[in-house]
Amino acid sequence: SRSLNLAVIPGDGIGPEVVAQGLKVLNAALPQDVKLETKEYDLGAQRWHRTGETLPDQELEALKGHDAILLGAIGDPSVPSGVLERGLLLKLRFAFDHFINLRPSKLFPNTATPLAGRPDIDFVVVREGTEGPYTGNGGSLRTGTPAEVATEVSVNTAYGVERVVRDAFERANNRPRKKLTLVHKNNVLVYAGHLWKNTFDRVAAEYPEVSTDYLHVDAATIFFVTQPERFDVIVTDNLFGDILTDLAAAVTGGIGLAASGNVNPTGDFPSMFEPVHGSAPDIAGQGKADPTATVLSVALLLRHLGHADRAERIEAAVSADLAERDGTARTTDEIGDALTARVSG
Ligand code: IPM
Ligand code: MN
Repeated sequence: SRSLNLAVIPGDGIGPEVVAQGLKVLNAALPQDVKLETKEYDLGAQRWHRTGETLPDQELEALKGHDAILLGAIGDPSVPSGVLERGLLLKLRFAFDHFINLRPSKLFPNTATPLAGRPDIDFVVVREGTEGPYTGNGGSLRTGTPAEVATEVSVNTAYGVERVVRDAFERANNRPRKKLTLVHKNNVLVYAGHLWKNTFDRVAAEYPEVSTDYLHVDAATIFFVTQPERFDVIVTDNLFGDILTDLAAAVTGGIGLAASGNVNPTGDFPSMFEPVHGSAPDIAGQGKADPTATVLSVALLLRHLGHADRAERIEAAVSADLAERDGTARTTDEIGDALTARVSG
């Protein structure tokens, strides 16, 4: 029989609460003959306070042996900004070469959004995950003086840009609308912009059925709000993708519904699935967090591992659950149970 050997990083704040619900739904959604094994990793703010460690080599090695990783949320106000982001989350994305940061946006029924009632919104942002301004390639001169100069260099390699652009064309080609939009800022960021646009145009020639478009990132933010239905697949760099996907979440039902996958399509390393939202320490431990984004991330995980039918079952369960929400407050657990019941039934 088959097996799924899953690493679980519950993390901080509401992370453990939403991950528990994600695992419940995963158990219900998996085919009978797939044996689920999970191993929990104690990483995040508490671990850092206790030991000063963010992601020791030994655990990084152990994580490599899993089929996939499910992560709740990382971050706490008691930890200096950047420590866990760089030392844990980004370290995992870089070490496991998660060059595809997949962030679908769909307007689910009955969701509180400024765009409620609009025509179907269903697009996916393919955010580059290993380059751009996230590489930590910068520095500071005369630090702390009135003459301080800080640089934060955006790294864009032909190899890195081509592989994410190719992945995005493949995805667009496999969707009914077959449309791909490149988002950048090539009127100002001319060197990186040139590399992205040239690569995009060159690969486009191999996909005659995919219609293409280009938008500057500032213009893209306008269309996300005024004409989101124009998008199908979007490919963009790491930082633009970070910002655009928070906006996408906000306009399509809120950050409580936004799922993401940090994917290494080659299979050389485990891919990692996580809700786009953070650890929300203000509501942690109160059973108030909506686990839906984590549940939808579990669907992405299943699709990545070849269980597309099971992923669809989860997405249908979420759709049905949202359609029947009537504004009555439900606990994290209650939402998880309702979704589990729908997936099992
Ligand atoms: C995200 C987050 C991270 C990012 C932070 C926490 C490093 O905002 O997953 O979008 O910027 O990628
Ligand atoms: Mn972000």
